[in-house]
Formats: sequence, structure tokens, C-alpha cells
Amino acid sequence: MTDRSSLRVPPAFVLHQLDSVGSTNDEARMLAEQGAQDGTVVWALRQSAGRGRQGRDWVSPEGNLFVSFVLRPQSSIVQAANLSFVAALAVAEALQDIAGGTLPLSLKWPNDVLLGGKKLSGILLESRAGQGGTLDYLILGIGVNLAHYPKEALYPATSLCEHTGQEAVAPGRMLEALLESFESWYRIWQREGFAPVREAWLDQAHGRGEQVSVRLTNETLQGRFVTIDEDGALDLALDEGGRRRVTAGDVFFAS
Ligand code: BTN
Repeated sequence: MTDRSSLRVPPAFVLHQLDSVGSTNDEARMLAEQGAQDGTVVWALRQSAGRGRQGRDWVSPEGNLFVSFVLRPQSSIVQAANLSFVAALAVAEALQDIAGGTLPLSLKWPNDVLLGGKKLSGILLESRAGQGGTLDYLILGIGVNLAHYPKEALYPATSLCEHTGQEAVAPGRMLEALLESFESWYRIWQREGFAPVREAWLDQAHGRGEQVSVRLTNETLQGRFVTIDEDGALDLALDEGGRRRVTAGDVFFAS
């Protein structure tokens, strides 16, 4: 067990630790509105109103990791959307560091981390525009199912504990590993842009070349997952012919 008071926090981050909160994303947003710096981190042991993508709930019992970052990158809002890929890579790297590189992890567009093909981690990116449409700040929320997972979910889920059959990894330990891997990928993205992130993400992409359904707000597309483009949009070869560039949606695999 990592003792919370002795957590290793790299100098790039300022950590706010809470026992319980509605949503770490909301807490981080409040701090950002008060001027919190890039690298401010909110970590809670449990959330009473955790949120997922598309307004869904994120059930948040103690034992899992719930963390949100306040980020203020020098980038446009469109470029900042790349950070969900940065986060997915960091989560996967942190998990492999902890498990000695043995986990069958894959990355599912747009920003899930899968373990054995089931959802282990979700990422929620919320941005706020400043004057003239520039990026003011971004809140990057990450949930990792370490000890628990929802039995009823849109996409089948698992936990690290369920998959390995071993004792649960303490959230503080996962957070330490995540801060390290996130710092490294965030720097790579700041220095070199999306290209190396895209390449690393594609190397671990789930189901590239496979048949998928993509659920959008008003329609469902059927096709083959070709790649992601230089902005992170999904490139889909439609069954009905032609290509479609998708910027938001839920992907489901045939098998
Ligand atoms: C998803 O896959 O739908 C995204 C889930 C994001 C959950 C995390 S947990 C920490 C942060 N606080 C929240 O309320 N949501 C994110």
C-alpha cells in the first residue's frame, strides 16, 4: 500500500488529495477558474457524482483511481484534443510499469484503455476557451478500474484485480506511476507535436483494420477502422463505400 502522505510527486505537479468529492473534474475546474497552474492534480479516493463521456455516470467506489489534471498547454483547442491520446498512452505505460510489462493492454478510439479487450480506464477531456477562441485551460479526468468495475456497462468492463486475480494495486501507487508516465508523454507532445503520440497510439490500437460499428448522436456507421488521422479523428472505410472522418462517437467491435 502506498501511504498517501508519502506519495512521490514530480516537481511538475501540485497535488490536491481528497477523500471524497462529487467529481474530480469539477474540483479541478473550480481550481482552474481560481487560476490554478498547469500541472495541478486533483485525486480523490471516491466520487459521489463521477462523470463519463456523453453525460454518462462513472461509478466511483473506493479502490479505483479518480484523478483530474488542470492543463494549460500553449496550443489551440483542436490540438489540445490530442491530450486524450497522450493520457491513454500514459495510463497504459503506468500499468505496464506496475505489472512488469505483462498486461494485454490495447487502446480503443477515442480514449479508452482496454485490458484483455475489456474497458479498464476511461478519459474525460473538458476544455474552456479564452478570449478569441484560444484555449484557456483543459481538464483531463482519468478513471482506472483497479479493484472494481461496473457489471452493467455500455462496453464490457474489467478491473486490474479481476484480470490478474492478484491483490488490488493501491490507487496511490497507480497515481505515482501515472504522474511519471504522463509527464513524459506530455513533454513529448509539447516538444514534438502529435506525430509521435499518434504513432505510439496506433502501435497499441485495438482492432485496427477490423469491422466496427460507430455510434454517433443520430446515426450508426458500419465500416472498417483504417487509422486515425493527423488530428486524431477516426478514419473509417464505410461498408456502403467511401471514407468517413469521425471526430466523436462510440466504437463497437464485431467480435
Ligand atoms: C469515460 O470513459 O466515459 C470517461 C470516464 C472518465 C472518468 C474520470 S474519473 C476522474 C474524473 N472525474 C470524473 O467525474 N470523471 C473523470
